[in-house]
Amino acid sequence: MRLKEFSKIVVPKIEQTLETELTNDVSLSTLREAMLYAVLAGGKRLRPMLSLAVLQTYGQPVDNYLKAASALELVHTYSLIHDDLPAMDDDELRRGKPTTHRAFGEDMAILAGDALQPLAFKWLTAADQPLSDVQRVQLVTALANDSGGAGMVAGQVLDIEAMQKDVVTLSETQAIHYHKTGALIAYALQAGAIMANADEKVQKILRDFGMAYGLAFQIKDDIDDYQAGKVESQAYPTILGLPQTVSALKTQVNNANTALSQFEKATGLDTTLLASFLDYFTETLEQTWE
Ligand code: IPE
Ligand code: IPE
Ligand code: MG
Ligand code: MG
Repeated sequence: MRLKEFSKIVVPKIEQTLETELTNDVSLSTLREAMLYAVLAGGKRLRPMLSLAVLQTYGQPVDNYLKAASALELVHTYSLIHDDLPAMDDDELRRGKPTTHRAFGEDMAILAGDALQPLAFKWLTAADQPLSDVQRVQLVTALANDSGGAGMVAGQVLDIEAMQKDVVTLSETQAIHYHKTGALIAYALQAGAIMANADEKVQKILRDFGMAYGLAFQIKDDIDDYQAGKVESQAYPTILGLPQTVSALKTQVNNANTALSQFEKATGLDTTLLASFLDYFTETLEQTWE
């Protein structure tokens, strides 16, 4: 199976899980409405799909792990709500709709984000999933690392600091991408590996695939922003120019493919589905840049 077919199957299930479980878990209607607004605004659901793609690769029934896989989407959504706030990027639109603070006020947006974070950890440890206590602890520990001060939040701090500088170096930008975007996508792959009971070596290989994928994802995001006229000092095209930015994208896609070969060698499993996530970069890589 490839991504297109897989996403048709799993995205509706992820969205159903997000809506039903969130509704069950939050009884205060004003808070629930703000959380549902942000979570159901129509993202790609890339991160839960990556976790579920690992389980599918292992021949595990994805339906059993929907809550744990969707937990990451709660953290991702909280990061976007807070990222859009006036104190940070001050954005009016997200996914083509008014940002959560525009629709519900800054106070409610902050609190909706606050409430999404612990809910994610609750979903990871929920009893109605075939996960051992050891697996639950591993998932919680990994998400705490990758979302917090050693991961995504650190990336946001570095990003904010870089925005205040006129000149940002390539290594500073790489550190931003690694933490801001790479960490949560690496976690998505590792979480799938933990749920599939993969050993630590394979978890690390899948994390490497996720990190390379995440870095490629952020470079493409920078290219798309640049082409849309958004120029930021810490963006790849500003630092390297477009042709070299596309080379950097290619390097990360190659790194991702190398990790997949290692995964295939270690497990003997079919990597068609995981490899098909890299189709997202094909068009950008095939364009002629000057
Ligand atoms: C946006 O992530 C933020 C970045 C890390 C570039 P996505 O592009 O995955 O956002 P949605 O969830 O699909 O809107
Ligand atoms: C958002 O980063 C990523 C996180 C919240 C971790 P950006 O600020 O670069 O992304 P957009 O453009 O708002 O989606
Ligand atoms: Mg930002
Ligand atoms: Mg932003």
